Amino acid sequence: MAVWCFGSINIDHFHVLDHLPAPGETLASRAYRVELGGKGANQSVAAARAGAPVRHLGAVGADGASALFELEAAGVACGAVQRLDGATGHAVILVDLAGENSIVIHAGANREMALVPVLEALEEAEIGDLLLMQNETAHQAEVAEAAMGKGMEVIYSAAPFDPEAVKAVLPFVSILVMNAVEARQMQAALGLSLDEMPVETLVVTRGSGGASWYARGWPEIHVPAFPARVVDTTGAGDCFTGALAAALDLGAGPEAAMRYASAAAGLQVGRHGTAGAMPRRAEILASLGEGG
Ligand code: RIB
Repeated sequence: MAVWCFGSINIDHFHVLDHLPAPGETLASRAYRVELGGKGANQSVAAARAGAPVRHLGAVGADGASALFELEAAGVACGAVQRLDGATGHAVILVDLAGENSIVIHAGANREMALVPVLEALEEAEIGDLLLMQNETAHQAEVAEAAMGKGMEVIYSAAPFDPEAVKAVLPFVSILVMNAVEARQMQAALGLSLDEMPVETLVVTRGSGGASWYARGWPEIHVPAFPARVVDTTGAGDCFTGALAAALDLGAGPEAAMRYASAAAGLQVGRHGTAGAMPRRAEILASLGEGG
C-alpha cells in the first residue's frame, strides 16, 4: 500500500526570537534559516521517514527547485508535482525561546495548481491506499471525493482551521485530525459535541496532554505524549499525522499507530525546523523501546 499526500509545499523562512513581536514592535532575529515546509510537504516527509512509500501531489512555482530537491531527498516521489510559473508558497515562521510560534503563509502555487493533473495522477492509486490532505491547497473537496471513489482512506488535517473548508471536505473524509483548539472551533462551528461529529474516525492531538482516537461505536483510545525537551513546536501536528498515516499504511492497528505517531512528534519538537526535523523510523522505534 502507499501514502499519497495532496498538500502544500512551502519555502519556510524561520526566525528565532527572544519573544513573539507585539503590534508595532521591531525585533532582531537571533537566527535565520530557510528550509522546506508546508503542511503537505511536512506530512509527506514525516510519512516517508516513518517508513511508508509516499507520493506527493501538489505544486511549486519557478523558485521551487530546492523544495522539490529536499522532498525527493527524503524519499518522496514527486513525479506528479506541478511546476508552475509563479511563486512557490512560502511561510514566515517566528519561534520564541519557549518553542511557541506565529506563522504567516502566502499560498502561491498551492492555490494556483490545476485539478485535472491531480485527478490523473490519482488514477494510479489502489484500493486501501491512504490520502493525506490539509487546508493549504485548492481543490480539496474534489480530490477527496475522487480518492474516496477509488476506495482510498482519506485523512484530513483541519489546519489552518476554516469551518467552511472542513464542511466541504468532510463527506469524503475517513479520519479527521485536529488539535485541541481546532476541535473546539469545529464543535462551535457545527454545534456538535466530539461524539456527534459526522465522520467515521476523529483524532484529537493535545500536545503534552497526549492524543485521542474516537471511532464511531468504539471506546476512546488515548495515548500519552512522549516526554520531550521542547525547542520548537512548529510542524509537530504534521509530524504526528504523517507518522500516523505511515503506521496505518504499514498495517498497525489504531492504538499502535497512535503510539507511533506520538513518539514521532515527541522527537520532532526537540529539534528546530519543520520537514527537516521529522524523525526516521529507527529513531521512532528506539523511542518506543522497540529499536532492537
Ligand atoms: O505546520 C507547519 C507549517 O505550516 C509550516 O511548515 C508552514 O509552511 C505552514 O504551512
